[in-house]
Amino acid sequence: MHLFSTLTIRDVSFRNRIAVSPMCQYSCEDGFANDWHLVHLGARAVGGAALVFTEANAVTPEGRISPADLGLWKDEQMEPLARIVRFIEKNAAVAGTQLAHAGRKASTSAPWNGGSALEVSNGGWRPIHAPSAIPFSSESITPEALDKSGITRIVKAFRDAARRARECGFKVIEIHGAHGYLLNEFLSPLSNHRMDEYGGSIENRSRMLREVIEAIRKEWPEHLPLFLRISASDWAEGGWTIQDSVALACMVKPLGVDLVDCSSGGAIPGAKIPVGAGYQVPFAAQVRREGDVMTGAVGMITSPQQADQIIRNGEADMVLLAREFLRDPNWPLHAAQVLEQKVDWPVQYDRAKPRH
Ligand SMILES: Cc1cc2nc3c(=O)[nH]c(=O)nc-3n(C[C@H](O)[C@H](O)[C@H](O)COP(=O)(O)O)c2cc1C
Repeated sequence: MHLFSTLTIRDVSFRNRIAVSPMCQYSCEDGFANDWHLVHLGARAVGGAALVFTEANAVTPEGRISPADLGLWKDEQMEPLARIVRFIEKNAAVAGTQLAHAGRKASTSAPWNGGSALEVSNGGWRPIHAPSAIPFSSESITPEALDKSGITRIVKAFRDAARRARECGFKVIEIHGAHGYLLNEFLSPLSNHRMDEYGGSIENRSRMLREVIEAIRKEWPEHLPLFLRISASDWAEGGWTIQDSVALACMVKPLGVDLVDCSSGGAIPGAKIPVGAGYQVPFAAQVRREGDVMTGAVGMITSPQQADQIIRNGEADMVLLAREFLRDPNWPLHAAQVLEQKVDWPVQYDRAKPRH
């Protein structure tokens, strides 16, 4: 196996092991995708990625990180996304979407406007929701703890969004269970202090996520892959650990999760994270080995050789790149050149193709 080996999950074939990691663009109005998303995502399909994920796609309006987030909470939002899916597929890539709820990190401004809590008078909203009424930081909004009916409502919103994703033509859904957003907040003992059946043991803290997976699988066809992004470690004393991640992988695989995308962090501010080249890859490797599930490696993967080695070493089944894809939308085409692999270039670009 190597970076340019094909991969089939359920009935979906990927031309190589390279995915565009979900990346918020903070460029929507009322959750609608637009020409920015078509060009941004389309360019990366043209550039040779096997799988192109949209950014976090909010399942409810309150579940957006910012007012400019992408959304899939109403049918009207489907057509611009369906157009993007058609373009991605026409260019031999698979289109995926990441379904998300921001939880206590909702209602903030775009990063280039400071990324801080947004007042209602500035387009923010209240209440925001979390497992417990604990704010992310001293500058953050204090969330309301969800009651059972609130949990049920959000689980249903994930299911409805999965139905819309299917109708848009997406072939992969990734559940956003990472980075300190709602489902991660339930998982982490640092943000979940509940005393009911959704708090306490790992079985209880993972209950909402498992309900979301089961609800999505009711709408998401058997023949299509379901991914789950997790924060494999909170990098904090008393927080979620890699052992918890392995245990979670074992719980969710029988529910229909095909691949665990191993990111980390985001549960609390100020965690000491040893960021460096491929720093999260060991998480993907351990979850793959001990959880017996396919994994995705993400985070500071930038060079073709590095990405190729991750696949060759059996540390992950896919690599997901984010910022490197912003630097170079044609990264897979360039990586193929470096690794001396033959890949098809878009016919329109054929005259620029390197000839060995
Ligand atoms: C602009 C930007 C937006 C992001 N938005 C999301 C997102 O919507 N969902 C998500 O799971 N991660 C998001 N991330 C995290 C990336 O998917 C990725 O995990 C992280 O950037 C590490 O990979 P990299 O070193 O290749 O950039 C975002 C990252 C960037 C740079």
